Amino acid sequence: MSKDIYVTRPDLPDLAQLLPMLESIWESRVLTNRGPFHEQFELALRDYLEAPALSLVCNGTAALEAALAAAQLQGEVITTPYSFVATVSSLVRSGLKPVFVDIRPDDLNIDPALIEAAITPQTSAIMGVHVYGNPCAIDAIQAIADRHGLTVIYDGAHCFGARWRGRQLASFGDFTTLSFHGTKVFNTFEGGAVICASEAGKRAVDLYRNFGIESELVISMVGTNAKLNEFASAVGLLQLERVEQVRQQRAAVDARYREGLHGMNGVAALAVPPQVEPNYSYFPIVVDPQSGTTRDAIYDALKAEQVFARKYFYPLLADLAMFQPYLSGDLPVARRMSGQILCLPIYPGLDPADQDRILRIIGNLAA
Ligand SMILES: Cc1ncc(COP(=O)(O)O)c(C=O)c1O
Repeated sequence: MSKDIYVTRPDLPDLAQLLPMLESIWESRVLTNRGPFHEQFELALRDYLEAPALSLVCNGTAALEAALAAAQLQGEVITTPYSFVATVSSLVRSGLKPVFVDIRPDDLNIDPALIEAAITPQTSAIMGVHVYGNPCAIDAIQAIADRHGLTVIYDGAHCFGARWRGRQLASFGDFTTLSFHGTKVFNTFEGGAVICASEAGKRAVDLYRNFGIESELVISMVGTNAKLNEFASAVGLLQLERVEQVRQQRAAVDARYREGLHGMNGVAALAVPPQVEPNYSYFPIVVDPQSGTTRDAIYDALKAEQVFARKYFYPLLADLAMFQPYLSGDLPVARRMSGQILCLPIYPGLDPADQDRILRIIGNLAA
């Protein structure tokens, strides 16, 4: 009986390195509220990500809500229907109206050619998602935002460490949010960050994540508790030392899949866009339903062999009952692609023999 293989496996730092850090937390009893590990991690991460300014928060969803609060948005925000639910939930929970714009078939990110037609006098921002760590059309989106005076926010939950034109992808836009959830390419168990283009943006996020408390007697904003604790910050410091090693291990898995898929009928790896240094966070395949097999048939065949690939992102967010009030117009590309994509297991330590088995199962259907 073979073992279960999931789409990812959390990557952990060396426990022996973590233990002295835990001892120092036990010694100091500083558990949260900008403790020493938090402050060290925040600066180290800002430098690593080449960020103008950065604030740590407790998860990627809080990061989204903090960015929206710091940007003081109102009315409508143009976004993509092809993402994880937190992208759109954060807008709705912040009292904003999501306006869905279709995606491009090549990188599955919001289509800049359709954004301008969706702008109304109520629009305050564009929120793209760098899906699977591939960049949105950054130049085109910025040009539209500049023309219409809009804020640009990127949900960068997938893009940690990926580079575009030699620069950290997370460093673009007015705000970019990150997730350090256990399933992500860089994890602190739970965690997240907001990268801000300005110090004023960071000050607003810092205020928001700590209940809006400015000083002992001054509370100046409706905030929340979105602080990252000392344990997660210590883990983050150790994880930062391992980023390049993890990237290389993932790159090897990615390369083996690409080689194995080559020449298969109707199944292709999503191409890496030009000028991108990937982080290999996901391995999406696109299945052509005209080819004789389907995404769902491959998903089921893998599951029967205890390989749990994931249909990221299906169902489409615009099709969820709770987001129906915001649906207007067709989203043909997003709808089609959400039926064709499957994310295969990718993580450091994935056994090449297991990868070959996954490829054989797919190959049997894509003959
Ligand atoms: C695109 C996207 N946005 C936001 C999130 C939310 O991050 P978190 O789980 O850290 O709250 C995730 C993943 O969980 C995600 O994939």
